Amino acid sequence: MRTASQPEPSGGIRNVFRDWEGLDREFQQIQETHRVYMQKLDDVSKLQLSFAADIKRHGKNQKDLSRLMEKSRKGLSEEDAKKVDMIKSQMKEWPRALLEMEAFLPKKNGLYLSLVLGSVNVNLPSKSSKGAYKDEYEQFKLYVTVVLLVLASLCLFALSYRFVDALLNFLLVWFYCTLTIRESILISNGSRIKGWWVVHHYVATFLSGVMLTCSCRTPCFLQFLQYYYQSGCLYRLRALGQRHNLDLTVEGFQSWMWRGLTFLLPFLFFGHVSSVRNHPSVSVAAVCFVLLFLGNFSTTLAVVRHKEHCHGKDIF
Ligand code: COA
Repeated sequence: MRTASQPEPSGGIRNVFRDWEGLDREFQQIQETHRVYMQKLDDVSKLQLSFAADIKRHGKNQKDLSRLMEKSRKGLSEEDAKKVDMIKSQMKEWPRALLEMEAFLPKKNGLYLSLVLGSVNVNLPSKSSKGAYKDEYEQFKLYVTVVLLVLASLCLFALSYRFVDALLNFLLVWFYCTLTIRESILISNGSRIKGWWVVHHYVATFLSGVMLTCSCRTPCFLQFLQYYYQSGCLYRLRALGQRHNLDLTVEGFQSWMWRGLTFLLPFLFFGHVSSVRNHPSVSVAAVCFVLLFLGNFSTTLAVVRHKEHCHGKDIF
């Protein structure tokens, strides 16, 4: 209680008291929200565990039933055989559907991610966050490629110093290492990146390490063209609201994809051939370049032939 000798609180301090009360109420509210949030996180992780167990059990039961159906197929009446066929055709879709559901659950990292990141969960919780991560990956490739191109041009035309050359190759080692990690995360989130492209980046990491002892120029322009093609694909698929298997059915997307590929592929194949001619004098690097040439060339051909087969289009 205030005594007579104590002065009246000034207007300023009254405002402080009033604001403090408001802040205090806000803080209590935040604490309550935090409690609810933690509770829900706890519920979600319990649900994830039981959901993952359900999926696993269901997958096993499916296999058991399929085996049983095969065994008891002999001597069935026509009606029963028809019913079995119907069950089979209905069950055919289930494994893919289960896989798609599983893509939204946390899962154990593979060996590489476990070694690099430990046991942290890298599975993104929604389709949009997976898409955003893929976008960011493509942008990352583009931005670092710009930096590499500038640095490589400086090395080539302006600064012929060993230090700048080493910096360029160090950046390449870091870039390719980062790509292998990001690609492993993308694959863990359901991306269909061919194994070769990841292997390519492991080999490129090694190669860049080797090139720290001698100089090399990489075909940056190819990465620009790839960025243009890949970001175009992503943009169109997002605009159509479709991804993966469904994209084969979208006419407009297909014709854009083939136009993009017809433009890109001659440059890619030229880049593959020119990379094999780089540095024949450095034996380790030469082996890597030959390996990269063979892998890039055959994988790109395989991708194009697969697309040609699925889309039934003659591109050349
Ligand atoms: N690096 C990383 N990811 C790649 C890739 C590459 N080189 N090529 C394809 N992918 C990804 C796609 O983005 C797609 O990802 P998603 O499942 O997350 O959507 C997935 O792999 C499947 O793509 P796919 O249908 O096989 O091919 P595409 O139509 O996306 O691309 C090419 C076709 C030919 C343009 C592409 O394979 C390519 O760029 N190849 C040449 C690469 C090369 O030669 N690099 C070395 C020179 S710098």
